[in-house]
Amino acid sequence: MTPIMKPSKKLALTGASLAALIGGMALAEPNRVTFPENIQDFEHYTTVTRGEVEQILAPREAIEAVQNGQPMPYGTHVVIRFLRDGEISRYFVMERGEGWGADYPDGRTEDWQFQWFNADRTVNLDENTARCQACHSGRADDQFLFTHDAMTAFE
Ligand code: HEC
Repeated sequence: MTPIMKPSKKLALTGASLAALIGGMALAEPNRVTFPENIQDFEHYTTVTRGEVEQILAPREAIEAVQNGQPMPYGTHVVIRFLRDGEISRYFVMERGEGWGADYPDGRTEDWQFQWFNADRTVNLDENTARCQACHSGRADDQFLFTHDAMTAFE
């Protein structure tokens, strides 16, 4: 029996912290991130093209918080909508929830969690979201955003 299977330890782990513990493995990882059903109300504040077109979206109040130097509110989603040949191919979503950082022992993206959704808005269970966090953790000074400047400049 491996140590991780001891009942006492197993009970103490949430799904997300278990996934973080074994984050080196390519493991499916559902977490707390939900698909933003009000995405049609979001602002499309910038576009990045790398083969696929990435339309980057956030709610107006989150953009205003960033412009005012405030933390984006709990419940905020920031989204990349990927287009391939004009069709939506997938979505990357980051969402901030109160206390969510506690799911990950290293807390490296504060209360933000990350998820990959398929075009039909279901979770891509082939993705290990520890990779998303590892890369975005380098942007801690900019609320974990790579497009912080574009969000700040958006009118
Ligand atoms: C190797 C680094 C890296 C990894 C891994 C990564 N990202 Fe990003 N992410 C970026 C960069 C760079 C951008 C800016 C857009 C661009 O250049 O494509 C970005 C932009 C974003 C944005 C738009 C907000 C922002 O930060 O500007 C979201 C949402 C996002 N990523 C989610 C994810 C999710 C979800 C995953 C994992 C499935 C992920 N990212 C994995 C580097 C990364």
